[in-house]
Amino acid sequence: MKKIMIINGPNLNNLGKREPEIYGSDTLCDIIEYTKKETACLGAEISAFQTNCEGEICDLLYQARDEGYFGVVINAGAYSHYSIAIRDAISSVELPCIEVHLSNIHAREEFRHHSVISAVCKGMICGFGKMVYPLGVRVLCEM
Ligand code: DQA
Repeated sequence: MKKIMIINGPNLNNLGKREPEIYGSDTLCDIIEYTKKETACLGAEISAFQTNCEGEICDLLYQARDEGYFGVVINAGAYSHYSIAIRDAISSVELPCIEVHLSNIHAREEFRHHSVISAVCKGMICGFGKMVYPLGVRVLCEM
């Protein structure tokens, strides 16, 4: 059974209340439950974490490597746009990482158009709301 870690970064703890016109009305808990349900047939073991701290995202990536996870689905939130530390952690752990964003970052403010972590991830899925999470898990399961 493939172990897959889902990492959520800053402000995603506030989903449901946070700009629902952009991010939808589901809470992060709802989204994780939905992801588990949608991917149950794939037989992956999913563990999900959320933190507002940059360094804790790096620690989670190292934890994923040390605990034998197959890969990571990561929504690093705003850190995606500027965290070299998270980018370096992703390339250090050498696990397949799928970057996800609920919103279409390319259709939003210019500062969101570039992600510094994309180049070290296997690929990026954005703009499909909560569906990006099960899609990310499916990609890892089929790799
Ligand atoms: C986000 C997009 C980011 O630009 C933003 O800072 C977030 C959420 C998304 O899921 O659409 O926090 O990662």
